[in-house]
Amino acid sequence: MKIKDAVVFVTGANRGIGLAFAREALAMGAAKVYAGMRKVDGFAEPGLIPVQLDVTDADSIAAAVARCGDVSVLVNNAGIAEVGTDALDASIEASTRRIMEVNYYGLVRTTQAFAPVLAARGASAIINVLSIVSWKNSPFLTAYAVTKAAAWSYTNHARLALQAQNTAVVGLHVGFVDTDLTAGVDLPKSQPRDVARRSYDVLESGGLEVLADEDTVAFKATLSSDRPGYLYPEA
Ligand SMILES: NC(=O)c1ccc[n+]([C@@H]2O[C@H](COP(=O)([O-])OP(=O)(O)OC[C@H]3O[C@@H](n4cnc5c(N)ncnc54)[C@H](OP(=O)(O)O)[C@@H]3O)[C@@H](O)[C@H]2O)c1
Repeated sequence: MKIKDAVVFVTGANRGIGLAFAREALAMGAAKVYAGMRKVDGFAEPGLIPVQLDVTDADSIAAAVARCGDVSVLVNNAGIAEVGTDALDASIEASTRRIMEVNYYGLVRTTQAFAPVLAARGASAIINVLSIVSWKNSPFLTAYAVTKAAAWSYTNHARLALQAQNTAVVGLHVGFVDTDLTAGVDLPKSQPRDVARRSYDVLESGGLEVLADEDTVAFKATLSSDRPGYLYPEA
């Protein structure tokens, strides 16, 4: 699957990692790049086609699918996060429900709605923007991490379901990235453009998983060790 000449649709493409995915697709020679976003008013980015899409709203997804019937690469990027204290935080249930609606159910809805469009293409792909916290326990991000673990599991199931129609499903895992989402975080961060580029490179080389920074590579390596990072977080 090549990005050159592909028709790419990115959810949450008005800013952050999504905008980087959209811009990078254009830079790599995509034939068309649809930039999905909740509010299209005022969005003006040369080469990108703004399309109204709220992943919590099935009607808006259906309208986007009807308008963008030529998509060959879907990037499920739209997401939100909330910060808490730990797994005993009284707000966990409500917070998890709110985040699930976007990060998990939103991704499921968008995947299912675009699947027939992708099936109509000779080869197609979906990139799901997950996180290092799909695997890693990060106490103040408990609710968010649960949604990314769910989205990771769905990614693996969707990959099986879409194999027969020749749609590759790629999971992207990454630690902190320099966007509005991490504005209050004073730790090393990847650049959105690098994350998008690495993801497309993996897709183009036939890979199914992107580990976009050194921390994520290192954490993933502990999973099959005798001291997995989720059991021994200090290791
Ligand atoms: N930044 C990080 O450190 C990091 C690390 C790992 C994974 N991620 C993941 O990367 C993705 C993008 O995050 P980001 O860092 O770029 O965050 P961001 O700068 O806050 O951007 C989030 C994007 O998602 C959109 N969005 C939120 N709710 C939506 C909905 N219901 N329907 C459609 N779009 C919606 C936002 O649109 P509005 O402008 O309308 O709010 C915005 O375009 C998320 O899935 C996030 O979990 C981020």
